[in-house]
Amino acid sequence: RLTIKEILKNSEEFLDRDVKIEGWIKTSRSSKNFGFIELTDGSSFESLQVVYDDKLTNFSEIEKYTISSSLVIQGKIVESPGANQPIELHATSIEPICISNKDYPLQKKRHTMEYLRTIAHLRPRTNTFNAVFRVRSLIAFAIHKFFQEKGFVYIHTPIITSSDAEGAGEMFRVTTLDLKNVPMENSEIDFKEDFFSKETNLTVSGQLEAEAFALAFGDVYTFGPTFRAENSNTPRHAAEFWMIEPEMAFADLEENMEVAEEMLKYIIKYVLDNAKAEMEFFNKFVDKGLFQRLENVVNSEFVKITYTESIDLLQKSGHEFKFPVEWGIDLQTEHERYLTEEIFKKPVFVTDYPKGIKAFYMKENEDGKTVAAMDLLVPGVGEIIGGSQREHRLEILEEKMKANGMELEAYDWYLDLRKYGSVVHSGFGLGFERAVMYITGVSNIRDVIPFPRTVGSAEF
Ligand code: 4AD
Ligand code: MG
Repeated sequence: RLTIKEILKNSEEFLDRDVKIEGWIKTSRSSKNFGFIELTDGSSFESLQVVYDDKLTNFSEIEKYTISSSLVIQGKIVESPGANQPIELHATSIEPICISNKDYPLQKKRHTMEYLRTIAHLRPRTNTFNAVFRVRSLIAFAIHKFFQEKGFVYIHTPIITSSDAEGAGEMFRVTTLDLKNVPMENSEIDFKEDFFSKETNLTVSGQLEAEAFALAFGDVYTFGPTFRAENSNTPRHAAEFWMIEPEMAFADLEENMEVAEEMLKYIIKYVLDNAKAEMEFFNKFVDKGLFQRLENVVNSEFVKITYTESIDLLQKSGHEFKFPVEWGIDLQTEHERYLTEEIFKKPVFVTDYPKGIKAFYMKENEDGKTVAAMDLLVPGVGEIIGGSQREHRLEILEEKMKANGMELEAYDWYLDLRKYGSVVHSGFGLGFERAVMYITGVSNIRDVIPFPRTVGSAEF
């Protein structure tokens, strides 16, 4: 089957050739004795211009074909006199496959992103979403390419699990029990009766399992769905999102940051080189400063500051924040954005956060107050990566877990990793959707996920 992509890519070669193409009408207009159809078959972001005239016996019917009708068209590829495209298709036959109903919601006008969310099954047919989801696919490929070329092994970590990898309790429970009808003793549900004979949930992160594999393979990464029952109704939080989590044995925090920086630059370059039409579209219609920003990222060295330094900078900035800045607070989006958008104007690694606001598995620093954590903050999005060097010392890890109120028996296997050849190891998590937002300039996470799930909303 011949695609529009093949024709546009090899337009010289196709000149004067007879072709047959199947596709959908994007736009259609006609005058007395000829008409134009912009045809797409999905293979390419650009469409093919089809020209027809009243020599076709069904001319007056073709004129009336509605937007999104599917057609099969035969004709000759010729040079286009118009400035918008090098070639066009002069049709010798246009036959309908299915005429679209007149109430098709995507007529030729601008629709708001909010409205388009209500038709998530049709929005991939618009230029914006077509470009977003093609680039999303390409970013996923670039990430695999980056890690595979470096020799990392791709690990599929479980989606149903009984652990809480972040220790934050933001989990969706998985159960077959009809909770309304379960007899409760002391209002506790007995999950022994349940499918897995224990309480289970959807994973919030594949990190703990990735650590087990890093201690066997050295360098590994996960790339899969993760779930968080965070009650955050923001443009940056989803209940179901994808995460890339590399984990490296023998690597410290410094090496961790090196890999994160190299990875981000690699995927941005890959997309700029391989999705030119889509990226130009974003730069023109979605975020006018996009190219400048991405080129700046590719060519700059990321800033590295400690949490303590960042608190100092924020306090000295004289800026009035909604959430007051003092040592010990978790940096809020407004603080993160101020650091990367106002102070540094490029990506910033913030390291060595207070232990009280970070997860149990992070390596405690000599000062006893901070942990070997790193967050990468980028302009426009804020936190895009969170990572750390892991606590590889058994006793200290046990203490930290107890202090977090965790049941050590449930994490026996995780503690084993510290008993049998424990080594320094590090890793990070890249929020896939945040990366897509960052690279396309799209400002709401709901618009980079095919069928988004956010607090209060799981349509489709
Ligand atoms: O900072 P987080 O919570 O780190 C972890 O999960 C670690 N286990 C990662 C690791 O070290 N292996 O999440 C990592 C990233 C964040 O920086 C953010 O980009 C993204 O995941 N993220 C979300 N993206 C969309 N919606 C949410 N609710 C998100 N929560 C985190
Ligand atoms: Mg984080």
